[in-house]
Amino acid sequence: MTKAFQINTQLVTQSRLDQTDYNNLGFGKVFSDHMLVCDFKDGAWEKPQIIPFQNLSISPATNFIHYGQSIFEGLKAFLSTDGKVRIFRPEANARRMNISAKRLCMPEIPEEIFLEGLNELLNLDKKWIPTSEGSSMYIRPFMFSLDAEIRVRPSDTYRFMIILSPSGKYYSSPVKVLVERQYVRAARGGLGSAKTSANYAASLYPAKLAQQRGFDQLIWTDASEHQYIEEAGTMNFMFVINDTLITPALSDSILAGITRDSIITLAKEWGMKVEERNVSIDEVLKASENGTLKEAFGAGTAAVVSPIVVIHDNGKDYNLPAVEGRIFSARVAKELSEIKAGTKADSHNWVTVL
Ligand SMILES: Cc1ncc(COP(=O)(O)O)c(C=O)c1O
Repeated sequence: MTKAFQINTQLVTQSRLDQTDYNNLGFGKVFSDHMLVCDFKDGAWEKPQIIPFQNLSISPATNFIHYGQSIFEGLKAFLSTDGKVRIFRPEANARRMNISAKRLCMPEIPEEIFLEGLNELLNLDKKWIPTSEGSSMYIRPFMFSLDAEIRVRPSDTYRFMIILSPSGKYYSSPVKVLVERQYVRAARGGLGSAKTSANYAASLYPAKLAQQRGFDQLIWTDASEHQYIEEAGTMNFMFVINDTLITPALSDSILAGITRDSIITLAKEWGMKVEERNVSIDEVLKASENGTLKEAFGAGTAAVVSPIVVIHDNGKDYNLPAVEGRIFSARVAKELSEIKAGTKADSHNWVTVL
């Protein structure tokens, strides 16, 4: 890609890398030396800049704090054994960010600022990319409204940023999920298909109640009938019933996961029958009872594939087949991890290599 603009870069005087404990990274807790910042003013994006990672100084009246014009993305980069930086599907994240921007009445971020800015930032902080098994550089692009005025209206000014978080293995330990039949994460016509802070805020209280009862995640159901499966708080759901991969169809109340899309693409190529359609909770529970539900998992950037071992509904636990026997989940998780690492050919051009 030829660069359409120059990114002004201000380097740190002293890197924090030496003082970072790579044996205890956790997830999303440690941040690299630099960050990308790009402001929108007077109807146009200014030149992006890379500056040392630092706190922000903003007015207490800043629009996003009060009215929530705030969107974000999440993706990962890896360092392959040949020392190259590999980013998984960044174009898809740039596109999705602009879908979110439109729904939140925010300006679209030009894809070259998102993509070239990310490449440059990653190249600069390449030494921060962890290499132990299962670790990655978690990338967080985000945008928020900046006007300092207490009035409900779309802001005139915005800030786009990218920060990088070297992160350890995200434990994809098997999860117990509770079917949510009371609270709602997103309704038709709402914000569900945008990656915006409000959706996560809406999910916190019901998720906390579920955790207090011993469940790891919720199965959100549709807002009007609570009959059809939507998604989890940070993952899309997928089921293998008989030999068919079944997942709820996308709608404006579901986030269009990039992992979901990648898994569907691979499954189709492997000759598997794939159905994207309404999936009722009753269908899945019946399949569990009659033994045709072979696999159930969440799909998302953080854990990639999270096996579901228990679904709880109306006072009853439905125990799902042992994780060890799940052929499709294991195959797809391995394939994606090899494509990301560069040990398997990237026939879909999913990976940007720097
Ligand atoms: C609500 C929600 N659904 C689904 C996903 C999975 O999306 P992706 O595979 O792009 O990470 C995420 C994570 O980004 C999410 O936050």
